[in-house]
Amino acid sequence: MVNFLINKLKRCRVCGSTAVVFIPYANAAFCKSHFIAFYERKIKKTLDDYGFKGGKVLVGVSGGKDSMALIYALKRLQNDLNIDLYAVHIDLGIHEYSEKSKKIVSSFLSDLGIEFEIVNVRRFINASIPKVVQTSRRPACAICGLIKRYILNSIAYENDYDYIATGHNLDDVSTYLLKAFLTHRSEDILRAPTPVSPPKKEYKLVGRLRPQLFLSERDNQLYCELNHIPYIDDPCPLSSGASLFKYKLLWTKILETNPVSQINFVKTVFETREKIDESVQKLDFCKYCGYPTTSDDKICAVCRIKLRVNKLKIKTDNRKH
Ligand code: AMP
Ligand code: FES
Ligand code: ZN
Ligand code: ZN
Repeated sequence: MVNFLINKLKRCRVCGSTAVVFIPYANAAFCKSHFIAFYERKIKKTLDDYGFKGGKVLVGVSGGKDSMALIYALKRLQNDLNIDLYAVHIDLGIHEYSEKSKKIVSSFLSDLGIEFEIVNVRRFINASIPKVVQTSRRPACAICGLIKRYILNSIAYENDYDYIATGHNLDDVSTYLLKAFLTHRSEDILRAPTPVSPPKKEYKLVGRLRPQLFLSERDNQLYCELNHIPYIDDPCPLSSGASLFKYKLLWTKILETNPVSQINFVKTVFETREKIDESVQKLDFCKYCGYPTTSDDKICAVCRIKLRVNKLKIKTDNRKH
């Protein structure tokens, strides 16, 4: 196991026994059980603070440490949060990587006794992610993320879920925002994920929960290791992640100056955004699939990809004849 106890305090802040971890932004060390309690309390507080009151929740489980920790913690908090919990895994068709993810997720969710479904990306887009990525110049992760969001929303909408929960963490959102500021992308700041977005059923949009938005990747890894939660640690073979990674490294330097800066940065943006009129984003319905889009020609981003994939398929098939 990784040694998470860095210098300073060696005694648990709560019970005084030997600590196994030091959390810089809380300036506190914890023993195993008090770290787990600290972690779960943060999840509950984040959802409470952003007005979540319960409902039928579908968790997107990829097999990575964030979403595996999330489903485990939500299962333990099920009664306190007043939720009915289900899970879904999207098989992206990324060769051995997807096979490995599917296996680890299925066996973990079965052990936990959570009802779940595995859906294949081909059911929605008629091609695997590696094939779709070949049809575009955009980074693999951007296209894949867009398709995953679309699939999670439509499965949840069609099956009457109130919320989708995903494992986005503090490093993800703070890096996304830092990049948006440093590259002058104000629309990305307005679009950044928040801990709770209520459902907008009139727009066929299920609500979103990101309960780990104020927990770091390291917190999630530690929670997994202390609870013996299995997870896939290999990076996705399609994602170079180079550009975002550079911005992520900037945080290491900033956090040395102020360990609470990352949380403060994200909270400051959220509070500022709440003061801005939400009506700036106009929503319309896609003329092909009926799900929402902001595009003027009324074609959502996923249907646009689908049209391109199908066009290329027809061209290749014609060449074969
Ligand atoms: P990512 O976009 O890969 O950073 O993933 C963000 C979150 O989306 C994860 O923490 C999961 O909750 C969810 N997610 C990602 N990939 C999948 C997948 N293949 N199946 C289900 N949920 C996923
Ligand atoms: Fe989507 Fe790798 S998981 S590009
Ligand atoms: Zn303790
Ligand atoms: Zn569409």
